Amino acid sequence: MTANYILSIDAGTTGITGLIFNREGHIQGRAYSEFTQHYPQPGWVEHDPNEIWSITQKVIATALQEAHLETRHLAAIGITNQRETVVMWERSTGEPVAKAIVWQDRRTAPLCEELKARGLEETFRHKTGLVIDPYFSGTKVRWLLDRVKGLRQQAEAGKIAFGTLDSWLVWKLTGGKIHITDYSNASRTLLYNIHDLQWDEEILHILHIPPSLLPEVKPSAHIYGETTPRAFLSTGGIPIAGIAGDQQAALFGQACHQKGLAKNTYGTGSFVLMNTGKEPNLNQEKLLTSIAWGIGKEPVEYALEGAIFITGAGIQWLRDGLGIIDDATETEALARSLKSNEEVYFVPALVGLGAPHWDPYARGTLLGITRGTTKAHLVRAMLESMGYQTRDVVEAMERDSGIALKVLRCDGGASINSFLMQFQADILGVPVEVPKITETTALGAAYLAGLATGFWRSRKELASQWQLAHRYEPTMPESEHTRLYQQWQRAVERAKGWSQ
Ligand code: G3P
Repeated sequence: MTANYILSIDAGTTGITGLIFNREGHIQGRAYSEFTQHYPQPGWVEHDPNEIWSITQKVIATALQEAHLETRHLAAIGITNQRETVVMWERSTGEPVAKAIVWQDRRTAPLCEELKARGLEETFRHKTGLVIDPYFSGTKVRWLLDRVKGLRQQAEAGKIAFGTLDSWLVWKLTGGKIHITDYSNASRTLLYNIHDLQWDEEILHILHIPPSLLPEVKPSAHIYGETTPRAFLSTGGIPIAGIAGDQQAALFGQACHQKGLAKNTYGTGSFVLMNTGKEPNLNQEKLLTSIAWGIGKEPVEYALEGAIFITGAGIQWLRDGLGIIDDATETEALARSLKSNEEVYFVPALVGLGAPHWDPYARGTLLGITRGTTKAHLVRAMLESMGYQTRDVVEAMERDSGIALKVLRCDGGASINSFLMQFQADILGVPVEVPKITETTALGAAYLAGLATGFWRSRKELASQWQLAHRYEPTMPESEHTRLYQQWQRAVERAKGWSQ
């Protein structure tokens, strides 16, 4: 048997998925494992990079087993990852210097305030396409350099590496030989100039970050290097050939190759991205402009993004934090058991609010409860909040891009929830389309690796693999969705600034 498969590693916020795709883009093997979330203080979220690596090895082995394949059947590896999360490790030993600081972590809010007070918002926005918020890597890197004893001196001596999860996994897969990232991940660090395609010297200076920490930035479809035998299930020589931040990978996997096409991925959070073509859109104030991808030597392409911090994680919280459901699949029937939301609203600002509000001090807020309120109301309010939050960012996106959304392609775990998908179409007033393969994040990374290695020839070939599973048409009267949405907006105002 020849190497007819691509392995995609999707290193998400709550778990790692290993997926094996064949030439038709069909899933042949799949494995998933969650890993530990650490919450050492309110507003802090950490991961253990070593645990992530050992779980990654485990899911790769299981996915191969499930597909009845061995490593020699793999033509290439693609990696996609939770973005912005900061890992720092010693170059000599490969040991992390601290737990990874997760994108959701709010500990650098005071530093962000200070940068804003210095009038630096426009500088950051113009150069990086991002807003000043604890969400992004830059201030987290600075925090570690300031707080971990001796780290700054070691970093200045070139002994320390920084990377997002893609860099960390490539480092591990290649036995510490390669320290790289791709354009899409670099563009989420707050340190990368998305016009010059360089780490930005002025910003590094402002944040007091030594350049020796940084990975080399490469295209998203590119042969970066090969696995080493010790590091990858005893197999060397498999090309690592595709990397993209998970949201950009999903945009690619949803075949949103043309300007104006948009997708929403429901994962831990939800991220609405619209392809804006070869020029960055700098009209935005409340949204983010990032690099979507760079394919080999082609010019990079950009995306406008609305980042919603908590959607799927809110369901996880109902399960693990409150224990009112045992499994996410129960939510659909619970939501449908009510005829309406009965005026119960939940603003899941559990880690502050992202786009378009950007309020790190907002906190989760439950409104409208009465003695008759049950867990069904809470579940329904959580699902509805995913729809409302999406409308918040879609409205901002339409304003900033001047492009009216005609359809929203949806994917990710919650896209199998037909109550949510119908509500999403209703509250937006545009159709929602769900493809047959909803693991578009992993698929996007596989596609990038396949393009770089000639496994697939063109984007046209990839786009022809996209198949519709369900289309949800909006059916709710406008007066009704306007009323619901106005109530939501009132609720959001109540959640803002709570922990300040
Ligand atoms: O920016 C954060 C994002 O990349 C996390 O994605 O899928 O882990 O929620 P996810």
